[in-house]
Amino acid sequence: MDLIYLKKLDPKKANTLEKSIYNRYSERSFADKPVKLNTLSKIIWSAQGITDELKRHTTPSAGAIYPLELFIISKNITYLEIGIYHYLPEDHALELQKEGSFTESLARACFHQTFIQDAAFAAIIAGDFEKTKQKYSERGERYVFMEAGHACQNMSLIATNLLLATVVIGAFNDKELRGLLNLGDWYPIAVMPFGHEK
Ligand SMILES: Cc1cc2nc3c(=O)[nH]c(=O)nc-3n(C[C@H](O)[C@H](O)[C@H](O)COP(=O)(O)O)c2cc1C
Repeated sequence: MDLIYLKKLDPKKANTLEKSIYNRYSERSFADKPVKLNTLSKIIWSAQGITDELKRHTTPSAGAIYPLELFIISKNITYLEIGIYHYLPEDHALELQKEGSFTESLARACFHQTFIQDAAFAAIIAGDFEKTKQKYSERGERYVFMEAGHACQNMSLIATNLLLATVVIGAFNDKELRGLLNLGDWYPIAVMPFGHEK
């Protein structure tokens, strides 16, 4: 059978989005250098920010239910106390949950992936699975995972665009991470450490 050869992307002629997709790689070493609060703001916004008066978000959501919750563990952000924060999309604001240094506890909860403790901050995506399952039953579970994937990819691409290093972390101890973040009924899905590349 004949093949239809497709045109390959020429990175020199690529637009901004194509360049971010092209240049995205997992990076696991972080410099000891602060990240600006406004940079953190853009990364969070890309994951769960609200974009219009219908309260649609930057990522799609099955039934527009929006079951994702975003947490930030800060370590080296300009003008932000170190601690654990919960993101409130409607206010585009961070609510302090716990003051103190928690990146080492986070690395431990991620089965001692020690590079995580060098990150300037980490984003943790958790899901309220019951919220989506109320409408979609068992199938709702996969929707929540799919939505977390969208949020991770948005954060990866905007981080590439902002010249920040990151990687998606799926290996962690659920119980330990739920305890650290005091998650209650929510379940952690992904962890992403961020920082300037070393
Ligand atoms: C769902 C998922 C879970 C992952 N978990 C980890 C992890 O726990 N630790 C880690 O170092 N990398 C993790 N990765 C990153 C992969 O190792 C990485 O994407 C893969 O090696 C391909 O490299 P690239 O991202 O540079 O293209 C994960 C990636 C995905 C999508």
